[in-house]
Amino acid sequence: MSSNKISAKINLKDNAYEVIVSKGILNDCGNYISNLEIGNRCAIISDSNVAPLYASKVSESLANKNIKSELIVVDAGESSKSLESVEKICRKMIKTGHDRHVFVIALGGGVIGDLAGLVASVFYRGVPFIQIPTTIVSQVDSAVGGKTGVNTPEGKNLIGSFYHPKIVITDTLTLSSLPEREFNEGFAEVIKHAAIRDKSMFEDIMSVEGYENLDELILKNVETKARIVEQDEKELSGLRAHLNYGHTIGHAIETAGRYGKFLHGEAISLGLIAANKISSQKSNLSDSENEIIIKALKKFNLPTQLDNSVSTQSLIDIMKSDKKFKNGKIRFVILNKLGEAELSEDVSEDDISLAIEALRP
Ligand code: NAD
Ligand code: GLY
Repeated sequence: MSSNKISAKINLKDNAYEVIVSKGILNDCGNYISNLEIGNRCAIISDSNVAPLYASKVSESLANKNIKSELIVVDAGESSKSLESVEKICRKMIKTGHDRHVFVIALGGGVIGDLAGLVASVFYRGVPFIQIPTTIVSQVDSAVGGKTGVNTPEGKNLIGSFYHPKIVITDTLTLSSLPEREFNEGFAEVIKHAAIRDKSMFEDIMSVEGYENLDELILKNVETKARIVEQDEKELSGLRAHLNYGHTIGHAIETAGRYGKFLHGEAISLGLIAANKISSQKSNLSDSENEIIIKALKKFNLPTQLDNSVSTQSLIDIMKSDKKFKNGKIRFVILNKLGEAELSEDVSEDDISLAIEALRP
């Protein structure tokens, strides 16, 4: 049995879908999936940590609804987010006899969601896709909004697509098995949502104790992201870019660590602090507002300093290969104040270098 179910709708013209949040809903996922009428064969894509914990629950619930599933497991970790993994998975699916009538389930964190979403979008030119997120990052952010992607040595998420799931089934009981570091890193994205849109969320953030009472906060984050994605689905108007607050520098830090030194949220924590510094110079973000963000990051033991093993120049070089600098300036998301973001065209390479240097111990 699952606990009280709460849900949100992502209202996109051609791709509306529901996000359902509940403890224990994994046992019922077959019901929700069978109601979508998207077929009776699927590939469950998961990773080596998540599959042993939760894949049998999903496949049994599907079997109860006469849906046959095959499990495909990749190594846990960011290094699996590669084109090589996409090819391996697609070929495995072809060899298993899957064709355009299959659908794909992503069972895992943001790595699996981004990877499986890309697989679903290219397999036989696109088959239906379902997200079952099992980390904070994926439940509050990556499972919603339809961005899929893989990394290359040059940068993060440089190859990908917009491809929305048919439903997002979020079982917050899965958070009980998340290691502490992985649990904590997820709050970087929650803090980002609070910083760009909803400063009242900082109160909720500061009172988090474990995973048991997170359902409402997770749904609040889904709704925050949904309202942005609904207005700028393909990141064309600049509004959706607000969700990249802290990510320009954060992604470069993640890439420089070769997707191993920092977890995603840890790199974003540093990116947020650097972006705050730039916001205080280019706009009105005050020291006290910056402190509120830093206090929240510290609550989750997220890093606030960057050691010298990564040089500032190497981060700038990564940003240059990943992002467009025009006349030495880059489009950069800044905060005017807590809860209010905007895109600036006035951030230079020097501004970024100084903000990175300010992260040094
Ligand atoms: P992740 O998927 O690597 O999961 C973190 C770790 O936790 C992994 O080792 C995983 O095996 C393990 N794990 C997952 N669920 C577990 C559970 N319930 N119990 C025990 N262990 C579990 O990383 P993540 O932090 O979830 O996601 C980060 C990724 O998400 C990055 O690649 C980032 O770029 C991407 N992302 C994408 C978007 C988007 O909009 N598409 C948004 C934010 C982040
Ligand atoms: N995580 C940024 C976005 O979905 O646009």
